[in-house]
Amino acid sequence: MEWIKVFSPATIGNIGPGFDVLGLAVGGWGDVIEARKIDSGILISEIEPEHDLPTDPNENTAGIAAREVLKLLSLNGGVELKIKKGLPSGSGLGSSAASAAAAAFATNHLYGEKLSKADLILPATKAEEYVSGGFFADNTAPCLLGGATLTRSKLPFDVTKIGHIDNLRIILVTPDVIVLTREAREMLPDTVSLDGFINNMANSCLISAAFAKNDYDLFARSVNDVVIEPIRAQLIPGYAEVKENALKAGADGVAISGSGPTLFAITNHTNSRPFLIEDAMVRTFKKYGIGSRSIITEIDSVGTRLID
Ligand code: HSE
Repeated sequence: MEWIKVFSPATIGNIGPGFDVLGLAVGGWGDVIEARKIDSGILISEIEPEHDLPTDPNENTAGIAAREVLKLLSLNGGVELKIKKGLPSGSGLGSSAASAAAAAFATNHLYGEKLSKADLILPATKAEEYVSGGFFADNTAPCLLGGATLTRSKLPFDVTKIGHIDNLRIILVTPDVIVLTREAREMLPDTVSLDGFINNMANSCLISAAFAKNDYDLFARSVNDVVIEPIRAQLIPGYAEVKENALKAGADGVAISGSGPTLFAITNHTNSRPFLIEDAMVRTFKKYGIGSRSIITEIDSVGTRLID
């Protein structure tokens, strides 16, 4: 049977203060899944490059998402998946969500596209839940839909796209440190201070407004997480200095992407030297003996899609 190829972008989820709520798809990096129909069951026949991810479809987010989509479609057919990981696991770039979204999209496409992209968010999020220990759609939703999304991953479940910021340029730096989402969630406290809550709520609401109004400056003033970031920063060696140096090099804001260790810095298109920010961040990690990979990129407005 014929193979199809699907790309799913990296995501920043959470965007700064919007813990489990605000997510953003970013261009350049992502996972690719090749898929074809088989008579029954889910088969993961390949994971590249060599990875420690399970090929058991019940333990892999791609396999679980494909299974959930087949269940939704009430079909007896199956699907074979070849996963090409562009996003390292434990990087804070929505790696498990990207594989889940791509597999959900591919399965739906192979079986007649009866579901919309929005319908695929729940199956992909269930898959993400299996590996992360939490039910949150701030990676799966932007990954599938593209752009920035707001999600309430509680009942009633809600997802909405929130506009675009044309002037936004994003610098992603992923240090060679693994942070497992499950562990980065377990370290969070059960309660937070009222002051922290008010701060993060204000910043999250204003980020939503910034996307709705296409207002880069409002976004830049609001990318500040005073609740989660100070705790998770402990997992990223050199974090405070990397952030300080990025700001000195011209970034208008810096925060942890998802549960880390990737950091994202922001600047706008008026800044003709975004590479200075990237360089400052990479070099500071190096000072701590940590290599990293980096990219200067923008919003991915399309989300999960078929490719040639
Ligand atoms: N919102 C989740 C977290 C995303 O920050 O734990 C993890 O990728």
